[in-house]
Amino acid sequence: MYEWIKAFHIIAVIAWLAGMLYLPRLFVYHCGAEKGSIQSETFKTMERRLLRVIINPAMFATWLLGLWLAWHGPDSRYGWFASSWLLAKLALVVALSALHGAYARWVKDFAADRNRHSQNFYRIINEIPTVMMAAIVILAVVKPF
Ligand code: HEM
Repeated sequence: MYEWIKAFHIIAVIAWLAGMLYLPRLFVYHCGAEKGSIQSETFKTMERRLLRVIINPAMFATWLLGLWLAWHGPDSRYGWFASSWLLAKLALVVALSALHGAYARWVKDFAADRNRHSQNFYRIINEIPTVMMAAIVILAVVKPF
């Protein structure tokens, strides 16, 4: 059972991160599209669907399955919560979830033609989930502490 839940946890993580890495690319291209153009309206639909159909449910599943795994860890009372690597990982995952919240806000801003950021801003933002993902995977697999 534990191994199955872990497999589905990783599948959910892949879907979440795929969306978290792709959405800022859409924002970069969207910045270059004229407001009211067909191109801009198409980006709005793509952004809304990516957020609602992939990113939101995948984040929910990652949390649900991850917390289940955490409660069923080796410590009979606290599970994996007794291990420091999990606490460090949780801090990073909370930060990633906060970034997710910011993405949702930017999707809304674009939908109302009220984007306030430049192409460069979204290019830089695009690097953040990549770095976080690497750190989280190292913590989960290597468990350095
Ligand atoms: C949402 C909160 C999360 C919680 C509570 C959580 C918790 C856990 C737990 C307890 C395990 C089992 C570790 C083991 O059996 O050795 C695990 C496995 C794993 N998690 Fe998460 N996780 C979360 C999010 C994430 C995210 C965002 C990523 C990647 C970016 C991730 C990547 C992994 C990987 C790769 C494994 C497999 C580790 C292994 O078997 O060696 N997790 N997670």
